[in-house]
Amino acid sequence: MPGHELSGVVAELGYGTTGLSVGQRVFGLAHWTQDGSLAEYTAVEARNLAPLPADVDHTAAAALPISGLTAWQALFDHGRLTAGQTVLVHGVAGGVGSIAVQLAREAGARVIGTGRAGDRGTAVGLGVDAFVDLQADRLEGVGEVDLVLDVIGGEVQERSAPLVRAGGTLVTIASPPEVRPRDGRAVFFVVEPDRARLADLVQRLRDGRLKPIVGEVRALAEAPAAFAPGRHARGKTIIRVMEGG
Ligand SMILES: NC(=O)c1ccc[n+]([C@@H]2O[C@H](COP(=O)([O-])OP(=O)(O)OC[C@H]3O[C@@H](n4cnc5c(N)ncnc54)[C@H](OP(=O)(O)O)[C@@H]3O)[C@@H](O)[C@H]2O)c1
Repeated sequence: MPGHELSGVVAELGYGTTGLSVGQRVFGLAHWTQDGSLAEYTAVEARNLAPLPADVDHTAAAALPISGLTAWQALFDHGRLTAGQTVLVHGVAGGVGSIAVQLAREAGARVIGTGRAGDRGTAVGLGVDAFVDLQADRLEGVGEVDLVLDVIGGEVQERSAPLVRAGGTLVTIASPPEVRPRDGRAVFFVVEPDRARLADLVQRLRDGRLKPIVGEVRALAEAPAAFAPGRHARGKTIIRVMEGG
């Protein structure tokens, strides 16, 4: 069964599980190589889940785990972003990019966002300081940046490496980098589960600092159509597997 992230209620505990209880609302990640969240019931390691406060609905929570943790780990764990620095975030209208913009702005960084022409309004709404249309504008025109967060790879990644100033970092989640900054680091990573950080991210969602972009909400039976190859949907697609869930 596909599906990497979820929000729901604990139905049963594995032997020896501590820190969670049956009936508790939780959200988090399925194991990367195991998948399985697009189902009524799924087995997930307790450490991959965090408690979900009663006032956060499952639709918003389900949009948060992978995009939220990936954005956080990219910017701060791997990218070491600090206040006053400039970060170039690619694909700002997407799951990871949209959250990265919001977290970077909150941290006091200057954010240059990229995307397609139609993403400009979304980018501005998220609070970017500048927007680059990757098809029409010159990426090289943005000047030097401390950090690049690449979610696209390929030619976009190649064109981004020279923009990193000395001592800066290119972080990519798309594929192991084939280029690196002249005098900086290039990092590829795969998102790690982190219960404490999930709790921290959901608190941001509660107090309005963070808004994942939720696109379509579909029933489980519609999941194959929702994720059909070549189909394009804006924002995170949420599959509601149980009525009232
Ligand atoms: N390594 C990890 O741990 C990790 C974690 C999470 C995600 N990922 C990977 O990272 C990538 C991004 O994830 P996501 O959830 O943010 O995906 P997403 O929601 O599809 O966002 C990607 C964004 O980039 C835009 N984009 C892609 N190619 C573009 C191009 N050539 N020019 C301009 N804009 C372009 C997309 O626009 P359109 O929708 O219009 O194409 C979209 O807005 C995916 O490949 C995903 O599998 C890796």
